Amino acid sequence: MKAFKVLSLARSVMLIAALLSLFLVVTSITAAESEFRQQFIYNYKTMNFSAQVLLIEQSETIMLDEIISLTKDAMAKDVGFGQRMHLLDAASAMVSGYTHYVGTNRKLKKVKKRVDKLIANELKKEKAKNAELMKWKKEERFLGNFIMKANMKEMEKAGLPPVIYPHWVHRIWFECKVCHNDIFIMKRWRNDISQEKIVAGKQCGVCHDGKTAFSAEEKCERCHMGGLKEAKRLHDVDHVDYEKISKVADKLGAEWNVDRLPDGKIPVDRFGFIDWLQLKRLDIFKPINSLDGQYEPEIRGNQIYFKAKSKVKDVLFDHEIHSSWVKCSSCHPEVFSESLKNNVKMVAMSKGKFCGHCHGKVSFTFADCLRCHSQQKDTRQDGVLLHVGKKREMREK
Ligand code: HEC
Ligand code: HEC
Ligand code: HEC
Ligand code: HEC
Ligand code: HEC
Ligand code: HEC
Repeated sequence: MKAFKVLSLARSVMLIAALLSLFLVVTSITAAESEFRQQFIYNYKTMNFSAQVLLIEQSETIMLDEIISLTKDAMAKDVGFGQRMHLLDAASAMVSGYTHYVGTNRKLKKVKKRVDKLIANELKKEKAKNAELMKWKKEERFLGNFIMKANMKEMEKAGLPPVIYPHWVHRIWFECKVCHNDIFIMKRWRNDISQEKIVAGKQCGVCHDGKTAFSAEEKCERCHMGGLKEAKRLHDVDHVDYEKISKVADKLGAEWNVDRLPDGKIPVDRFGFIDWLQLKRLDIFKPINSLDGQYEPEIRGNQIYFKAKSKVKDVLFDHEIHSSWVKCSSCHPEVFSESLKNNVKMVAMSKGKFCGHCHGKVSFTFADCLRCHSQQKDTRQDGVLLHVGKKREMREK
């Protein structure tokens, strides 16, 4: 399938990039490094042991200072993790070579201790960094929590963890139209959200004013919840506070029919994401479409048929369903021009364009091919518009 080709293409691009960066690492060191270092690393890489032994024996007097200068270069400020580990690894190999072919002495022991410690430290830091990233991954799971930490330094100063914005909970009570795009542009990090604006009644503060929702001037910890135990109810189906969701829905005039939940829990699809379509089918929730009740729904009641190239089934896009969730202006003209000629391609979508503006972010994931590719080939019905794409003449053949 083409998508797999795309994947393997992406993989080869990554491989080439990795090789290229390795090449850059090697060449960028050679610019500043000594003859000894170059030779040593070359022999080390090509596993030319006899040349290495000869080199070590010839360089006995300068070698320890060479190792010291190598560790200094490795620890320079602008050196990235990959290059740093590459240099420290070479330093470690030099230490072993020296120990083996020259013998040990006090200065060597000192150098060895330093190199070992630097390597251990780097690995520890990298592990902590990955753990930090993974921690937020867990809380962002579920297709619809955002960790907000653009102003992390100020939050740290105030002794507060980052904000978890539970996008999904808000979707239960409010249609997309309430927030997008009057309050928020539909794109992460694009709204420059800050405490100051919130307290001034903008952004989250449109609702979090102590009337529609709890005030942002009190309950700090109800938003600044990243990494805390209480946050479990926001990313773990088993800990969701269903009663509270009901109470808020009642207050707002939205619906949340908790008794219709299958097994008493929010349904998730096989990828572990909230299955909104199931929630809708079972009539479990009905969000409000405006805060003041003055909004006149604007809906485009047609469907658009995408004839997929290659063997996959065709796609039916339901304008009516989508425009019942989302305002026209959230899609037009930024995501799609108002025509049938957008150059919609999977590759572009996987980069967040077209359908990928929402799917894979807050709506069901691309891995779920058949939810979109649901139509037997060439079964467009009367009245369903045909997406023509860019190359109109070719399409209509
Ligand atoms: C209560 C307000 C609210 C509602 C309702 C809401 N959103 Fe959002 N949405 C946000 C906020 C806040 C952000 C993050 C903005 C930022 O980081 O600057 C966001 C971001 C997004 C993004 C960007 C995701 C990304 O990774 O860039 C998409 C897409 C999105 N929303 C779609 C929707 C859709 C579709 C609905 C309805 C099904 C919806 N939103 C309902 C507040 C809302
Ligand atoms: C359109 C109105 C609206 C907007 C905009 C909005 N919220 Fe809310 N939010 C609510 C309501 C209503 C509740 C539930 C009321 C309550 O618990 O007092 C809520 C609840 C929450 C909760 C609590 C969830 C829980 O179970 O503890 C968090 C956290 C939250 N909002 C964060 C935010 C953040 C962060 C923003 C801005 C990025 C934001 N909200 C924007 C209406 C809104
Ligand atoms: C309704 C949710 C909400 C509540 C309640 C809330 N905050 Fe925030 N706060 C935010 C969001 C969203 C940000 C922006 C996060 C980012 O940097 O991406 C923020 C950012 C901050 C920052 C970073 C500096 C800045 O201006 O953005 C500080 C400091 C802060 N909040 C303090 C507080 C304090 C103190 C309280 C309690 C009095 C509080 N917050 C209550 C949502 C909230
Ligand atoms: C979820 C995104 C989305 C929303 C919301 C949306 N559209 Fe569209 N619209 C599309 C897509 C996708 C196409 C087809 C693009 C293509 O085939 O190149 C389209 C095509 C169109 C077209 C040309 C085909 C036709 O239907 O005549 C018009 C006009 C249009 N949209 C108007 C609207 C209006 C008016 C609204 C609001 C009531 C709206 N759209 C809401 C995604 C959206
Ligand atoms: C502006 C956001 C947005 C864009 C852009 C968008 N969708 Fe959706 N789509 C949604 C939301 C929200 C749902 C509801 C389900 C969910 O969130 O998981 C949905 C549901 C669907 C469904 C299921 C409809 C049903 O009820 O049976 C299909 C199929 C679908 N989208 C296809 C597409 C295709 C194809 C495109 C691009 C041509 C597209 N979507 C673009 C937001 C979007
Ligand atoms: C959110 C909806 C959606 C999902 C999910 C989705 N696709 Fe698509 N796909 C489309 C649309 C829309 C097109 C454009 C059809 C056209 O006009 O060529 C498309 C086109 C394609 C094409 C034709 C070539 C191309 O790149 O445009 C292939 C192959 C394809 N999809 C494979 C897949 C596979 C495999 C999956 C699952 C891993 C998948 N798609 C998931 C909407 C989707």
